[in-house]
Amino acid sequence: MYQPTRDLAGEVCFRPNFFQTKARINYLIDEYLSPEELGDRLEDLPRQFENPQPRQWATINWQDINPEQVVGLELDVFLSIIKGALDTEAPIRDYTQTSRQYLEPIHPTMAKFVGGEINKDGKIIELGLWEKEERLHTPALAKIYQQLTNQKIIPQLRTAKSYQAWENPYQDLYKHGLHRVATEYSAACLYLWLMSHTTGTIQEILAELLKDEVNHLVKFWGMGMWLYPHGAKHLIQYLLSQIHTILPISCEVSLQSQLNLNERGGEETSPCPIKLLKSTFQRMMSALDWQSWSILSRGELIYTFIWVLKLMWHWSSQLTPEYLQSCCATPEFFGE
Ligand SMILES: [Fe+2]
Ligand SMILES: [Fe+2]
Repeated sequence: MYQPTRDLAGEVCFRPNFFQTKARINYLIDEYLSPEELGDRLEDLPRQFENPQPRQWATINWQDINPEQVVGLELDVFLSIIKGALDTEAPIRDYTQTSRQYLEPIHPTMAKFVGGEINKDGKIIELGLWEKEERLHTPALAKIYQQLTNQKIIPQLRTAKSYQAWENPYQDLYKHGLHRVATEYSAACLYLWLMSHTTGTIQEILAELLKDEVNHLVKFWGMGMWLYPHGAKHLIQYLLSQIHTILPISCEVSLQSQLNLNERGGEETSPCPIKLLKSTFQRMMSALDWQSWSILSRGELIYTFIWVLKLMWHWSSQLTPEYLQSCCATPEFFGE
């Protein structure tokens, strides 16, 4: 009797069409971004403020990585995406320190969560949890690349945007936070889509990266909802505008109406206009050499972006201020 092979994304199809890959993407979304999982990741914040513990990875048999584990995607395309992802993950130290500086005047405990502790001379005396988890990503991607090519790979030296005070700390953090959420969201979508095109050990490694990105996305998103209660609709519009920057003009459908952004009703003012923000997505997609991808691959990733966004929007629209307060507030907010 025919027994389909199954993996972390459901049924494995070695020459998948769009609908088979779509089924794998949906399966992964249900598994890794279920409402229970998202709630769990947000409710984990107070515990991590109190006693930060990096998430443990499953045991990985790195030697088992092989080209047959890439499914329905040319190996050279897969490798160039891994290389691009590696370039966007680094330099994590700069990213965490910039975020720490923006957060410090507004939420010192969250600042410590992302960027650790600094002494009077500006030296890091303790790493932030976000950095401890994210810094495993670049070596993991490099290892996949090396195992598949027998070549060492070094990430391109890029400089992350440094901290700059513009208006006031609250507004500055808002703009910075939009970029951060967009980066975690796009990384989560990319790794989820790559999982739909892999199996075996490569897929297991990507699952670890996906879990971290979802964890960080949820924590940053929830914190944003709590600090900027009127920013929810604006965040979605911002992410949609990011997706629009990578769509061919002819495909520009009204994503906004698809997501039914008016479902909450009422007026929501945005703390800053979208057009002031440069495209986080365009930078990432050019690192991934997006223009060279097949129409099918681009369509699959855009499908992932939209479905994950829809799910996040639906989830976050149900979070009450009291619930967010219980997850995000720390004693300093009550004057203790
Ligand atoms: Fe990452
Ligand atoms: Fe990340």
